[in-house]
Amino acid sequence: MLNAQALPRRIDELLVSGRYEPPVLPEVAQAVLRETSKASCEPRRLADILKRDAAMAAGVLRMANSPAYAPVSPIVSLSQAISRLGLEAIRRMAVAVACESRLFRVRGREAEARALYFRSTVGAFVAQELARHLRLNVEDAFLGGLLHDLGEIILLGLVADLEATGSAAPIDAVRAVLSERHAAVGAAAVEHWALIPRVAVAIRHHHETEGATDTASASLLFISDHVVAAFLDARPLDAQALAPALGRLNLYFDDLEAVAARRDELLGWARGLE
Ligand SMILES: [Fe+2]
Repeated sequence: MLNAQALPRRIDELLVSGRYEPPVLPEVAQAVLRETSKASCEPRRLADILKRDAAMAAGVLRMANSPAYAPVSPIVSLSQAISRLGLEAIRRMAVAVACESRLFRVRGREAEARALYFRSTVGAFVAQELARHLRLNVEDAFLGGLLHDLGEIILLGLVADLEATGSAAPIDAVRAVLSERHAAVGAAAVEHWALIPRVAVAIRHHHETEGATDTASASLLFISDHVVAAFLDARPLDAQALAPALGRLNLYFDDLEAVAARRDELLGWARGLE
């Protein structure tokens, strides 16, 4: 049994051993991010990229028809999804499909990984709606919310690997490692992709917004996390704990409560991405 001291040591050994490979963003999602960041992005080319991966194409179509996008009439093709929802929505969906189908999967820890994916999609929509209200970058907010706890999944995967070799760890030690390390581990993985660098910075600082170069994005994720806890853990919003982050964003507690009042709607949007 690995105790509270031994588990972080073993995790560090794995992270630097060369046996650890940071999770790869699926190739089609990478291609979507690259193509849509070009000024000359062509809708037809984007549709061709999505079609390369049948699961990705189906996932994007499913999400395009989900409550978050609520089309007035059903969207039946990728070209329709692109023309009616826009490139930014397609970028967000491509990363969400990658999370749902690949990144948020841990063998032996399936239920925890699924729960964390759902929690992350709730965070994505909360961050997105706060960014809309604050006129900040909506896409960065959504992707930050979606990926901010990616490190937890990576660390859960490493814990599952250790368990598979007979080195089980007590739940408290696992919780401590997840809590202390996940922001740095998740940010390092997203930095490694080199496709959404601003999102990586926000992820690194989402629990301690003071050191962030982009304090607005990190503060937004910090606040979103509290709203998600209010939604899913029945933990009331703590005005005092949130005050510094709210101050950095010039966001009033009343504005935050207005977004929090949309709980059922935002949870419905998140369920549509499952
Ligand atoms: Fe976190």
